[in-house]
Amino acid sequence: MLQPLTWENGKIRFLDQTRLPQEEIYRETKDYRVIAEGIRTLQIRGAPLIGIGAAYGLCLGAQEYMNEDLSSFGRMMHSVDAKLRSTRPTAVNLFWALDNMKKVWEMGLAEGSSSAEICHCLVEKAEEITKREYNVNRDISRYGAALLNEGDTVLTHCNAGTLACSGWGTALGVINWAVHEENKTITVLADETRPLLQGSRLTAFELMHTHLAVKIICDNMAGYFMAQGKVSKVVVGADRVTLQGDVANKIGTYSLAVLASYHKIPFYVAVPLSSVDFALEEGKDIPIEEREEKEVLELYGKNIAPQGARAKNPAFDVTPHKLITAIITEKGIITPPFDETFQRLKNK
Ligand code: MRU
Repeated sequence: MLQPLTWENGKIRFLDQTRLPQEEIYRETKDYRVIAEGIRTLQIRGAPLIGIGAAYGLCLGAQEYMNEDLSSFGRMMHSVDAKLRSTRPTAVNLFWALDNMKKVWEMGLAEGSSSAEICHCLVEKAEEITKREYNVNRDISRYGAALLNEGDTVLTHCNAGTLACSGWGTALGVINWAVHEENKTITVLADETRPLLQGSRLTAFELMHTHLAVKIICDNMAGYFMAQGKVSKVVVGADRVTLQGDVANKIGTYSLAVLASYHKIPFYVAVPLSSVDFALEEGKDIPIEEREEKEVLELYGKNIAPQGARAKNPAFDVTPHKLITAIITEKGIITPPFDETFQRLKNK
């Protein structure tokens, strides 16, 4: 299995996903700033992996300031935490992971533990988060695979696999489980996912790695194949899910959901509960990241629009819960009304 990010003897080793598929380059760092920049620039990407990267990034920060006195160590931890939080606004996993880490370092400071002890506990917490995501991905994959039938053609968008999560992945985990654990024949259509091509660069790369039948299509081809009856199901991941079951995912997901609804094709979202924002009711309140215009205007550093042209570049959109057939989580498959189940999980 691909290892997009690991902690090795006080260092983070990560696969630079901006270089795939041309180059498989791993970088090593002891500097949390490199991790923050890696998340901002999508070298480290995908909602769960952003959370894992930020958790270990915080450990690097703690290591760097370990020899300061305890009060400056505490001040520096606030600043490392703030830097990591400022990298990307939409995937709630980033904040979920950093909130979990914060409980550890704040408690350590309150109890007067040494900075070395706090560092040790932080690494343990980051390892726990990573292990948890791995197990959760496996459960999501297993539950979701039951929704796929022999001979299905599954359309997916962006990349919600090992590269985005570590472990099985979510949407791609569901497909991989159906093929490799249940021996179903499944064909995948992968949207190329403009502007940054996570579908053609990463999903195709990953699925070819696991020997799955995958064909890349341009984002504007989905309706054509749906109208021909050539798409059995749509399965995607998510960056943030609200209590009502509205889902923020890579830009273009909403259009796919509308198309799927028109063509009466089941639309599934595979997501760990770490991507559910239990504090948000509705999708309209999800912060949507607006990225640089040049990501739309350029490809591999070359202009693909007239000099001086302007562009819009929202990185995510929100799919309203009414368009979603089911949400696949580690607790099982949730069907509408989603708010009842999420409210129950919140109260637990
Ligand atoms: O901008 P990215 O590449 O981080 O966006 C990733 C996605 O939108 C994924 O579909 C989502 O994070 C789910 S990953 C399990």
